[in-house]
Parts: sequence; structure tokens; C-alpha cells
Amino acid sequence: MTDLQNIVFPSLKDRVVIVTGAGQGIGRVFAKAFATAGARAVIAELNESKAAAVAAEIMRAGGQALAVTTDVADEASIKEMIEIVQDEYGRIDVLVNNAGIFSTLEMRPFDQIPLEEWERVLRVNLTGPFLCARAVLPAMRRAKWGRIINIASGAVRLGRPNYLHYIATKAALSGMSLSMARELGPDGITVNAILPGATFTEIERKTVTPQQKERIVAMQCIPRAEVPEDLVGAALFLASDAAAFVTGQSINLDGGVTGS
Ligand SMILES: NC(=O)c1ccc[n+]([C@@H]2O[C@H](COP(=O)([O-])OP(=O)(O)OC[C@H]3O[C@@H](n4cnc5c(N)ncnc54)[C@H](O)[C@@H]3O)[C@@H](O)[C@H]2O)c1
Repeated sequence: MTDLQNIVFPSLKDRVVIVTGAGQGIGRVFAKAFATAGARAVIAELNESKAAAVAAEIMRAGGQALAVTTDVADEASIKEMIEIVQDEYGRIDVLVNNAGIFSTLEMRPFDQIPLEEWERVLRVNLTGPFLCARAVLPAMRRAKWGRIINIASGAVRLGRPNYLHYIATKAALSGMSLSMARELGPDGITVNAILPGATFTEIERKTVTPQQKERIVAMQCIPRAEVPEDLVGAALFLASDAAAFVTGQSINLDGGVTGS
């Protein structure tokens, strides 16, 4: 497994990196990884106590972090978060659109998904990244530098059944990344998507049964369960100066389940 200390991108020092949904799981590891790289991690998370706990964890380890309770489905809440970040740091360099309705999802055939649940998943997983991207634009445009990283899903390429709303949002995020990249290239802003495979975090979830987990690992070239640390190298790279010419890409990080 990757040791966060061993991934070195000096250009990330003091960059202001907003990670949405960083109160647990993959987002929490992203926030810790950016802080380990010397960046200032903003934990923009719906769950106030979890956000505070992650910020405290980072600061105890000597990193820079700011917890801001944020609902990415609510434009006013995002605006408030941006104002707090601007007041605290005066800039925004990187947005990682990681928040999503995921571990709490029930698997069920698409004709049994209640319409309200469909609409909520679209609102958080797709409209959320759209609103957050729009909100960081003024700061990134002023700086003529910015990085937007959308966390989509490798499940899109597998066509996994029984959570169609989720799959629809993640496929849309991947498509949105390329179109957004075309609009923002002239401003020095790159937009890319990361497509994680089934990634096992500290959070129990219903979307992968133990039998499915075994089958997924068997499909990978690297035959062990994927963990959030497997995603951080790509995220730090995409956020760094080293990735200045990488944009519009959807990068599969699934241990080799799917090809490009
Ligand atoms: N874990 C996986 O196997 C996997 C695979 C592919 C993609 N992903 C994607 O990676 C991201 C993180 O996955 P995870 O496993 O850590 O998920 P998770 O469900 O454990 O964590 C999601 C986080 O987002 C937060 N959140 C939910 N709604 C929010 C809102 N409206 N505003 C702000 N925060 C909100 C939650 O409170 C939680 O902290 C998600 O977008 C997920 O779809 C995960």
C-alpha cells in the first residue's frame, strides 16, 4: 500500500485544496494526503463532527486544515464555504469533487428506485460538483491557475447493475469533465476525472457483498482489495504543476479490471 509520505509533489506546498465529502472514506484520505504534501486541506463536508475530526487529525500530525460544514446540494451553503475559505486563505487552487451519496445506497433494480431517491442522488452526485466547480471559478480565473478533479467511478465502465442513479451520475461526471476542460483550458484550469474501482474504506456498505468483493479482486491485475491510498498518487499528480498539460481525462484506477 502507498505510504502518503512517499508521494512527493513539491508544487503542492500551501496550495488551497477543497475536498468535498472529506469526513470519511476516500475523501478523508485525500485530505490527509494533500496536507501531508504541504497543502492546506479544506474539509467541505455535510457531517459537522466528522469534518472537525478529520481537520483535528490533520492538524495533530502537523498539517494545515480547515473544516467547513457544507452541503454540496445547496448553492447557498457552497457560497458560504467559499467565503470562509477566501477569508481564511485568500485563494482556492484545487477542488476535489468527492462528496457523493455512495456508502448509504441500497442496491435495487432501477424500476424500484423511488423517484425522490433518484433526484437526491442526481442532486448531490452531479449537481453538487457542477455547483462547486462554478463556485471556485472566480478565484481560479483570477489566479489563471486551477485544478478540478471529479471523483467518478470505474463501475461506469463495468456497467454494474442495481444502482442506476449512481451510475448515471458518475458517467455524467466523466463526460462533464472533458467538456468543462474545453471551456476552462484558456484560463489555465484543468479538469479531470478519477474512476476508482471498488475501494474498501473504514465504512461498511451494502453496495458490495463479500462474494462480489472476491470476484472483483479476482478480476484485477493486482490481486488485492483496493484502498483509498491507491488513489492519492493520481490525485496529487493531477493537482500538481507536473500535470499542467493533462486535462479532460478520465483515469481508471481499478487495479487493472478494465483497460482504457
Ligand atoms: N469506495 C468506492 O468503492 C468508490 C468507488 C468509486 C467511486 N467512489 C466515489 O468516491 C467518493 C467517496 O467515496 P467513499 O467510499 O468515501 O463514500 P462515503 O459514502 O463513505 O463518503 C461520502 C462522504 O460524502 C459526504 N456527503 C454526502 N452527501 C454530502 C453533501 N450533500 N454535501 C457534502 N458532503 C456530503 C458524506 O457525509 C461522506 O462523508 C464518492 O463520490 C464515491 O461515489 C467510491
